[in-house]
Amino acid sequence: MRDIIIAGNWKMNKGLGEAVDFAERLKQVAEKGIAETVLPIIAPAFPLISHLAKVFEGSKVMVAAQDVSAHKSGAFTGEVSAEILASLGVPYCIVGHSERRSYHGESCEIVREKLLRLIDSGIKPILCIGETLAQREEGQTEEIILGQLENCLSGIGIYSGKDLIIAYEPVWAIGTGRTATGKQAQEAHSIIRNWLAERYSHTLAEALPILYGGSVKPYNIEELLLKPDIDGGLIGGASLEIDSYLKMLDKAINLNK
Ligand code: PGA
Repeated sequence: MRDIIIAGNWKMNKGLGEAVDFAERLKQVAEKGIAETVLPIIAPAFPLISHLAKVFEGSKVMVAAQDVSAHKSGAFTGEVSAEILASLGVPYCIVGHSERRSYHGESCEIVREKLLRLIDSGIKPILCIGETLAQREEGQTEEIILGQLENCLSGIGIYSGKDLIIAYEPVWAIGTGRTATGKQAQEAHSIIRNWLAERYSHTLAEALPILYGGSVKPYNIEELLLKPDIDGGLIGGASLEIDSYLKMLDKAINLNK
């Protein structure tokens, strides 16, 4: 049985005060006890990671970075390396988010470099993949997501389901309020899991968490989480308000899967 991960991707939102208020409320809830099988993760902007990690200390809540440099170290102004993240004890990092791919021209080659850096530094990547609306309408969903997996993971050492988290995020569902139905998401997740089984092993595929992202909200999260291959959510907009995040966490905790 895989854990359920409720990962909040705050993107470029929240300053220190707001972030700490949110984190303190979340920690209070976490201290009351969260089901063994549920893992809350919050990905704030870079400068806030340490602050939040301090608030969450001793609780089950984990922090994640939203991105990492493809370079190891050196003269790359404005970049943050995997080594720097590791020195802060950051356990997870989102990589290949569609906003990075489209606004910053990140190709799978770059995503691959980032994955290498993260794995070398002992940080677990949350690798985002997903098709655009045009690609879905052209019937290319499977080809696109498998192509992204092949290209991003080529030559990367993934040995167990604990080495990586995949987030299926159809681009047309991100920030649009237009979520994939449970059926559409499950279809994509099962394609991903089958690919993992063929590429690595059945055991690895069964253990590796695959999150869904794209307009996940308190009202639709349950339908998604009930699907056999959906192991949690990577949630943008609806993770910004503590009450909304806690509602989604609660659905995950009380899920009868
Ligand atoms: P959204 O964002 O929940 O606001 O659609 C998801 C994401 O970009 O990870």
